[in-house]
Amino acid sequence: MLSQKSGPIGVFDSGYGGLTILKEIKKLLPNYDYLYLGDNARTPYGTRSFDIVYSFTLQAVKRLFEEGCHLVILACNTASAKALRSIQINDLPKLDPNRRVLGVIRPTVESLGEITQSNHVGILATAGTVLSNSYPLEITKLYPTIEVTSESCPMWVPLVENNEADKDGADYFVKQHINRLLNQDRLIDTIILGCTHYPILLPKIKEYTPEHINVVSQGEYVAKSLEDYLFRHPEMEQKCTKNSTSTYYTTESTDKFIESATLFLKEDITVEHIDLM
Ligand code: DGL
Repeated sequence: MLSQKSGPIGVFDSGYGGLTILKEIKKLLPNYDYLYLGDNARTPYGTRSFDIVYSFTLQAVKRLFEEGCHLVILACNTASAKALRSIQINDLPKLDPNRRVLGVIRPTVESLGEITQSNHVGILATAGTVLSNSYPLEITKLYPTIEVTSESCPMWVPLVENNEADKDGADYFVKQHINRLLNQDRLIDTIILGCTHYPILLPKIKEYTPEHINVVSQGEYVAKSLEDYLFRHPEMEQKCTKNSTSTYYTTESTDKFIESATLFLKEDITVEHIDLM
């Protein structure tokens, strides 16, 4: 039986990528409490099958609910693409129909209309997200005239998870995928970083992207969309505690998480190890 007491907002990712979302959420909504869960032991999700991503994501959502979260953000495009709908439709009614799980793809797509001028958009994402076709489908629903070209970057998440994002070796893979994407459509004026790990590679991504192209990180849009959601759903807003705390869970070693997460968040954090099953 899940506790009905109010609790933190849950933020889930396969690893460190969701921190790029949490950072922006905390900037915009600093008063709430957050519980971040990184499944670092089983990352990357991007190359895994639909069934596995769904089962791992459901385990994480259940755990966050058990920890008192009423609202969980899947700060992971792969999980949003492969698990969100099934969890919303099949699992939430059984687990607790009053809890909510939200993803990151829709808020990102909504932002596109005001960004692209050429109506040619590129998506860089994991193989799982690209194969799911979620971005082209969502974009066509909202903006039928936008042309979408996708490129999967299987090496980028391992670079981030292994703390190699700012090292020389990363340049080769960053340049390779940007060139491949832009060679497919010369009219692209906007690139969506459709994986929450990728903003950690942003300095290198910008280095290899022509200046006139907008590179869109999702954090800011997801944060605005969450603010709007809480405003439109006061019944949920009241169930979110507000003491400005952030708690971190990882399924891997806490030392490794602290080292990588503090580099990126630039604040001291404490982390607890948990097992998901
Ligand atoms: N950060 C995740 C995403 O946004 C998943 C990366 C992975 O585990 O492959 O897709």
